[in-house]
Amino acid sequence: MKLLLLLVALAQLAFALDNGLALTPPMGWLSWQRYRCNIDCFNDPDNCISEKLYMRMAQLLVSEGYSKLGYTYVNIDDCWMEMERDPNGTLVADRKRFPHGIKWLADYVHSLGLKLGIYEDFGTFTCGGYPGSMFYLQKDAETFASWGIDMVKLDGCYADISDMDFGYPAMSFFLNQTGRPMLYSCSWPAYVVFNGQVPDYKKIASYCNIWRNYADIQDSWDSVKDIIQFYGNDTGSFSLVAGPGNFNDPDMIIVGDYGLSYDQQQVQMAMWAIMAAPLLMSIDLGNVKPETKRLLQNDGVIRVNQEFHGIQGRRIIKDNTFEVWFKPMSVDAKGGAFAFLNLNDAGGPIQVQMPLSKLGLMEGEGYNVTEGFTGKFIGTLKPHDLINASINPTGVWFGIAYFDC
Ligand SMILES: *[C@@H]1O[C@H](CO)[C@@H](O)[C@H](O)[C@H]1NC(C)=O
Ligand SMILES: *[C@@H]1O[C@H](CO)[C@@H](O)[C@H](O)[C@H]1NC(C)=O
Ligand SMILES: *[C@@H]1O[C@H](CO)[C@@H](O)[C@H](O)[C@H]1NC(C)=O
Ligand SMILES: *[C@@H]1O[C@H](CO)[C@@H](O)[C@H](O)[C@H]1NC(C)=O
Ligand SMILES: *[C@@H]1O[C@H](CO)[C@@H](O)[C@H](O)[C@H]1NC(C)=O
Repeated sequence: MKLLLLLVALAQLAFALDNGLALTPPMGWLSWQRYRCNIDCFNDPDNCISEKLYMRMAQLLVSEGYSKLGYTYVNIDDCWMEMERDPNGTLVADRKRFPHGIKWLADYVHSLGLKLGIYEDFGTFTCGGYPGSMFYLQKDAETFASWGIDMVKLDGCYADISDMDFGYPAMSFFLNQTGRPMLYSCSWPAYVVFNGQVPDYKKIASYCNIWRNYADIQDSWDSVKDIIQFYGNDTGSFSLVAGPGNFNDPDMIIVGDYGLSYDQQQVQMAMWAIMAAPLLMSIDLGNVKPETKRLLQNDGVIRVNQEFHGIQGRRIIKDNTFEVWFKPMSVDAKGGAFAFLNLNDAGGPIQVQMPLSKLGLMEGEGYNVTEGFTGKFIGTLKPHDLINASINPTGVWFGIAYFDC
């Protein structure tokens, strides 16, 4: 009977996940890329997965001016748990590293005006070997709600892909049933892609707010470039599914870590804005260079990323190592943000001359074009007028063209 009810409920849920969340791409901080599964609080107390780390990052989101720009989620990733559930089957946070428990941490994070995200896994174990949600989906959804959690990332290690078609929707149902709106981040399509298949993105969007569909980001330009190529290929047309309530997630922001040059940092910010991607920084917020912080807090980047129609930009030109990306920024596509990408990693800057018409911008009265990072006014350009851009190796020219006649 319970199963039948669940099936009926799932059928009703299909086509729209209506929890009122992720109307624009979520922004915040997530521990995984930078802090991984560092549980050695004895030798590395400042960088281990512990309540202290999340409290410090929450404080920094506020004190360094990130939260007022929209970076409000503080997200726990793997390795936060005890190795065993309690006798009642409830998940327990590691007693040494989270001595006050997750509910207390959530209360603290909320007191700063921020939101708390947590991590679990659909399979029998998390990727790090901690208890998974298999056979406990409902219980875990209820536990997270009782703790005051605001976002749940459900990974897919130690699970059969064939069970995901039912299991990820089931968790969506159980989260909904708690009555607490919790943003639902699914790793489901990533595992489908790893298995060599093309996900059913429409179905996924009807159960998940955001979803990972490609490899974990690493702290390197190669990794950023590879993800951009996956998104440029857009196999299965996943870009078309993005919109308020639903976003593809190309993974964390690594701007502020060790692996990217300043030009490459600009590429990640411009491209994540154009791809309408979640902006979840995985960096030490207490140790960010001023120029990098300005990029993370850049007005043009955030405005493009958070544009309320939530249209995901796409690659419209690929010519060897030169690419053009465009994100429409109004319903009737009369304006947008664009990126000229130079993926070549040799030599000096390339000079590009591009008429607006090549971006699909055809209004005869023209467009007010600004440089995306600086806001510098370039001119009111007609469709045949040329934008002249100089683009460094592994760099980007990021622009915004508005039509508001
Ligand atoms: C388990 O559940 C019982 C009954 O609801 C409750 O009295 C007990 O405190 C719970 N034990 C733990 C460890 O939470
Ligand atoms: C649960 O789903 C219903 C129907 O889609 C929706 O109206 C409601 O806001 C959802 N509640 C939560 C807490 O997600
Ligand atoms: C993108 O497509 C090209 C051409 O089909 C292919 O060679 C490349 O491996 C793809 N890249 C990714 C990351 O999917
Ligand atoms: C770009 O350069 C051409 C000359 O090559 C010039 O006519 C045009 O006005 C320039 N565009 C802008 C926006 O300055
Ligand atoms: C450009 O901006 C000016 C000043 O805000 C405005 O009057 C004009 O209509 C804009 N032009 C276009 C094409 O949107």
